[in-house]
Amino acid sequence: FSESAANGFEECSATAKWLLSKTEIRPLVGIVCGSGLGSLADILEDQIAFQYSEIPNFPKSTVHGHAGRLVFGMLKKTPCVCMQGRFHLYEGYSIQKVTMPIRIFKLLGVETVLLTNAAGGLNQDYNVGDIMIIKDHINMPGFVGIHPLSGPNDERFGIRFPSMSDAYDRELHQLAHGVGVELGYGDFLREGVYCVLGGPSFETIAECRLINKLGADAVGMSTVHEVIVARHCGMRVLALSLITNKAVLSYENQEKANHEEVLQTGRWRAEQLVKLFTTLVPRIPRG
Ligand code: 6GU
Repeated sequence: FSESAANGFEECSATAKWLLSKTEIRPLVGIVCGSGLGSLADILEDQIAFQYSEIPNFPKSTVHGHAGRLVFGMLKKTPCVCMQGRFHLYEGYSIQKVTMPIRIFKLLGVETVLLTNAAGGLNQDYNVGDIMIIKDHINMPGFVGIHPLSGPNDERFGIRFPSMSDAYDRELHQLAHGVGVELGYGDFLREGVYCVLGGPSFETIAECRLINKLGADAVGMSTVHEVIVARHCGMRVLALSLITNKAVLSYENQEKANHEEVLQTGRWRAEQLVKLFTTLVPRIPRG
């Protein structure tokens, strides 16, 4: 378990303490921006931002051009912290490193975590541009022991065997759904099951068929590990997938998933997602 210290209590505490000494903002809501959705961070007022590279103990970016920032700021009257760019398993980080920022959120005082991602739509009723409220997940890497909580358990974060049947907060789900309908997004608002795979290659047709049969509505390469770590330490979770492309389920289909399409759809829907969050965050009940 050489990497289990990567998100250990002492490391995370030191980082949280460093951050708290540099800003007066005491965030209650933590936001993670998915691919192409980084503009969510720009809505924060009175911003203080830190490059990931200047934050002690933070994962070191190994990928060229992967700039990331941790942004503190106010959304209406709610103090927030926002990851503009997240860490992925496929970049080569250990699963503990990938989820370390979530534990830092906890130690900063965050009560509620809002996560977004770009995902491929497996459900044939879904369209590109749909926003899916995640109601449950399938943790594929977990099936083979790639799990952010493997290794010694630190009770200061949470219990050894946390439940995941209540991972996605029902009250926040209802709230997000209500806000979406109110803003006129009902036609492209969905709720479904998200399946995580390791990436970085997109799925084969056979793999898409498999996970679709298993009950997944969307597939991606992130979020689930962060959700597990957030629930382990008792934060409430709301997660949204932006369906950026349709996963290919048929050999008749000549299309193929590509990263440019993912980013394009992100930019196209960013405005609606920003509006959803700006309306939603002030209504989140405080713990
Ligand atoms: Cl089709 N697959 C995966 N694994 N991640 C994605 C995606 C597809 N589209 C956006 N992200």
